[in-house]
Amino acid sequence: MIAQDIEKILLSEEEIENRCVELAHQIEEDYKESGETPIVVGLLKGSVPFMAELIKRFEFPCEIDFMSVSSYDGTESIGDVRILKDMDLSCKNRSILVVEDIIDTGRTLVEVKKMFKNKGCLDVRCVTLLDKPSRRVCEIEADYVGFEVPNEFVVGYGLDYSQKYRNLPFVGVLKPEIYQ
Ligand code: IMP
Ligand code: MG
Repeated sequence: MIAQDIEKILLSEEEIENRCVELAHQIEEDYKESGETPIVVGLLKGSVPFMAELIKRFEFPCEIDFMSVSSYDGTESIGDVRILKDMDLSCKNRSILVVEDIIDTGRTLVEVKKMFKNKGCLDVRCVTLLDKPSRRVCEIEADYVGFEVPNEFVVGYGLDYSQKYRNLPFVGVLKPEIYQ
C-alpha cells in the first residue's frame, strides 16, 4: 500500500479540509465584492484534489477549466514552462483564479500569470494548497495560501513523485529509500 512509503504526515486530511473551508470563504468575500464570475483554472494534475475540495464550498457563480503546463523532472524543477494542454474556455476579458498544488521556485506561476495577461484577462489571482517560500527564485506570491511547508519534497493530495502518490488523502514526506 502506498501509505507505507510515507515517513511522516505533514498535513492530515481533516486539516486540509478545514483549511479549504476557510480559503473558500476568503475567496468568496473577494469575488462577491467585485461581482465577477471568474474562471477557476486548475493546473493539471496536482491541483485536482485541492480544486475539488475548494470549489464545492464556493457559493458564488464560477466556471471551471484546466490547463497543463511545464514539467517536473524527479525532484528538481527544470525551469522551462510550456503549455501541454490549453484551456477550453476563452479567457479574454475574464477574471482568472489559478489553482496550484504548490508554489516552489515560483517560475510556473510567473509564466502562467504572464500568459494570462497576454491573453487579455482582466484579473489573475492564484490560490495554492502549499507554499515553499524558502525555495523561491522569482519574486511572486500566491493571493491565497493553504499552508506553508518547509524545504522538503512532499507528496499526496495531488502532489506526486514520478507521477505516484497523488491519490494519498494527506500531505507527507516519503521515506528516503523511495528516492534510491
Ligand atoms: P515552481 O515552478 O518551481 O514553483 O514549481 C511548481 C511545481 O513544481 C508544482 O506545481 C509541482 O508540480 C512541482 N513541485 C514543487 N515542489 C514539489 C514537491 O515538494 N512535491 C511535489 N511536486 C513539487
Ligand atoms: Mg504541478
